[in-house]
Amino acid sequence: EQINSFRATLLAWYDQEGRDQLPWRVNHDPYRVLVSEIMLQQTRVETVIEYFNRFMATLPTVEDLAQAEEATVLKLWEGLGYYSRARNLQRAAQYVVNDLQGKWPNSSDDLQELPGVGPYTAAAIASICFNEVVPAVDGNQYRVFGRLLKIDADISQPKSRKIFYNAIAPIVDPKRPGDFNQAIMDLGSTYMKASNPDTLNSPVKDYNAAYRDGVEDKYPVKTKR
Ligand code: ADE
Repeated sequence: EQINSFRATLLAWYDQEGRDQLPWRVNHDPYRVLVSEIMLQQTRVETVIEYFNRFMATLPTVEDLAQAEEATVLKLWEGLGYYSRARNLQRAAQYVVNDLQGKWPNSSDDLQELPGVGPYTAAAIASICFNEVVPAVDGNQYRVFGRLLKIDADISQPKSRKIFYNAIAPIVDPKRPGDFNQAIMDLGSTYMKASNPDTLNSPVKDYNAAYRDGVEDKYPVKTKR
């Protein structure tokens, strides 16, 4: 039905045109995915690429990060800002190596035990690395699904997260949840970006209720900013 054809359309587009060359997508190593997701929390993809490659060249494994001098880590972070991210990232690595004997938490619930890892980042890692069928709800998913489904919840209200989560959870592809979440990220930065979206050419135009009803500029709903 509708959900199956949406998933198939989205993933076919992702396989053709998704950014599969991004350096954190070349494998599903949770260490690489964690580092990339923490960097991407406040920094644009184009900027992160270079920092990510340098970080991995210097500290290729979670053990390397756990044992590094803090000054080394902060140096690698220089220019990215929000240095608490770097400190938390190192603490997360130390937690995995020292407290969990190097065994990664493999569910979104358990991943939230890592310092600096909230619901979005935990869901991204769990879906990408461990195939957990869970939506990675962030600003991208608010925008994409706010428009596709005409979700009227106000995204500036923290309680709306649950509404979006519940609306998106049944749509996540059960066989490829990580690719599903990353396809939404790619859609949200191309055809469904915040300003000047190119809905006419979007691969999922036919599933876009806000576009169909001519109210795309009303979604996602946001009262204050
Ligand atoms: N933004 C946050 N996570 C991302 C990812 N895995 N790929 C591209 N953009 C992202």
